[in-house]
Amino acid sequence: MATTPPYDVEVGSGVRGRVAALIAAARPQARAAAVVTTAEVRRWPWSDLDTGLDQTVLEVPDGERAKSLAEVERLCEAFAEAGLSRDDVVVGLGGGAVTDLAGFAAAVYLRGVRVLHVPTTLLAMVDASVGGKTGVNLRAGKNLVGAFHQPLGVLADTDVLATLPERERRSGLGEVAKCWLLDGRDGDAVTRADDETLIAVSLELKARLVARDEHELGARALLNYGHTLGHAVERTVLTRDPDGLRHGEAVAVGIAFAVRLAARLGRVDAGVVDEHDRVLAALDLRRWLPRELSVDDLMAYMARDKKARHDLRFVLPGPNGFELVAGVDADVVRAALAAFALESSGREATRE
Ligand SMILES: NC(=O)c1ccc[n+]([C@@H]2O[C@H](COP(=O)([O-])OP(=O)(O)OC[C@H]3O[C@@H](n4cnc5c(N)ncnc54)[C@H](O)[C@@H]3O)[C@@H](O)[C@H]2O)c1
Repeated sequence: MATTPPYDVEVGSGVRGRVAALIAAARPQARAAAVVTTAEVRRWPWSDLDTGLDQTVLEVPDGERAKSLAEVERLCEAFAEAGLSRDDVVVGLGGGAVTDLAGFAAAVYLRGVRVLHVPTTLLAMVDASVGGKTGVNLRAGKNLVGAFHQPLGVLADTDVLATLPERERRSGLGEVAKCWLLDGRDGDAVTRADDETLIAVSLELKARLVARDEHELGARALLNYGHTLGHAVERTVLTRDPDGLRHGEAVAVGIAFAVRLAARLGRVDAGVVDEHDRVLAALDLRRWLPRELSVDDLMAYMARDKKARHDLRFVLPGPNGFELVAGVDADVVRAALAAFALESSGREATRE
């Protein structure tokens, strides 16, 4: 797959066995590798990797707990202890939390060593491991410290998805639905697509947008489709129930809303709304507002968020394709949200 700067992205059954070959081809001077992963990932038989180098395995906490500056320091100390030089390689093996942390530690250790990602969740395969964004959290918020650091390569092995819990899978599918729609793919073909196709379509789209906009100044913003309301839904649910909703599930709801807002603004017709609903349903994604969320709470969240960016902006489909639309009238958003909430309560009642 062509990316800028060019790096190797491989998707398919068994590609995790290609780690040693990929490093040998892309980083022939490497002598040592530090594999960053978690104990939870290591309990799966598929987690044994052979880098073909003098290899150290470093465990970090599972999930978001990995993404702290304290873990970056611990990892960098461990890299130094293992004698990792600038020629050597860090390998991130795990979900997006691991690839974000491993990528950031690699970006700052010795002012930058190369990192290879072996993402093991669907979300990490289609999103976190590609594009070069790395980082950790602060108490003040998620991903507030980080760096752009493009990987040496990404090996997305579809075999490892067999052990992924359904909830984690759905989290990735929210981003897959977004990419499928942004790419203008046929809404019915999604039902026939296997994992390899779903991942490849998403990766190719992200790689294309990132190549046009590596540092997130323009085209890359389209990847935020579904995220304006999605973030509001995610944050509002999570303050009440920390396990209430995964990111991708919230994005799916945000997508269903965005296309309805686009229709209300006269940018698309009902056929486009139907096609979105078909894609979300085919991927088994809930596309209705959780009943307990109020329009007022969501508008308040988006207004707070809006202050940071000065206006209410949504990525929306329209006659010229998808665009970032700034300055959307808050009254129109509120009316669209009220209609969506009403539609949602009817759909929830029939469990559609
Ligand atoms: N850098 C980016 O561009 C970017 C993009 C999107 C998301 N992210 C980040 O990614 C993180 C979320 O990633 P995630 O959803 O992968 O979560 P995660 O990394 O927390 O992994 C979720 C869980 O799945 C388990 N797991 C991993 N692979 C498994 C497998 N094959 N089988 C069974 N269990 C498995 C993990 O042990 C973990 O408990 C967030 O921190 C988010 O900020 C980054």
